[in-house]
Amino acid sequence: RTTELDSICQKVEVIPVLVIDRLEDAVPMARALVEGGLNVLEITLRTDCALDAIRRMRAALPGVSIGAGTVLTPAQYRLAEEAGVDFVVTPGTTEALYRYGVESPVPMLPGVATVSELMTGWQYGYRRFKFFPAEASGGAKAIKSIGGPIPEARFCPTGGITVDNADDYLSLPNVMCVGGSWLTPNSLVENEDWDGIRELARQAAERFHH
Ligand code: 3PG
Repeated sequence: RTTELDSICQKVEVIPVLVIDRLEDAVPMARALVEGGLNVLEITLRTDCALDAIRRMRAALPGVSIGAGTVLTPAQYRLAEEAGVDFVVTPGTTEALYRYGVESPVPMLPGVATVSELMTGWQYGYRRFKFFPAEASGGAKAIKSIGGPIPEARFCPTGGITVDNADDYLSLPNVMCVGGSWLTPNSLVENEDWDGIRELARQAAERFHH
């Protein structure tokens, strides 16, 4: 599990978090990000067309790592598995999700904001976590502090991360990568400005490479 998540998260330093409102945007948006150099994508299950969007991306962009985000329940986890995702991301955790993730063929990156939530996951064997909402939960300072007692845990922080503060996180030894929606701003998506999104991705890939 840890190895699978590491191989996905080590591909890039930045994982775009996508909210797809119009199904027809899915493939061109994903393609623009991938062409810009970001080939791990998280599609949030918070819009009606999200699962269809994942299926379309899966078919059109076979080499790309696709995750489902905003997974709140085991039932949603199962729908994501069926849509063919490579990984699942949750904003927070429940015992039911932790248990489901252990049995699933698809690895889960569980969302935690406290050491106690992390410790619950630890008992189930989880070693890689999303730290959410990152900026509001103490930011890079909090992750650095957690690295004291629990240095083996590693994080993908998301929530409030932008091009301006990503380095604060990426410079920490226990941060694998960061996630965020800043690569797909509404102003560009609404205008189907895929060139603009490709350029944002290119800048992020260049600035935050390994
Ligand atoms: C999310 O799940 O919404 C992500 O954490 C994105 O957060 P952001 O919009 O602050 O980047």
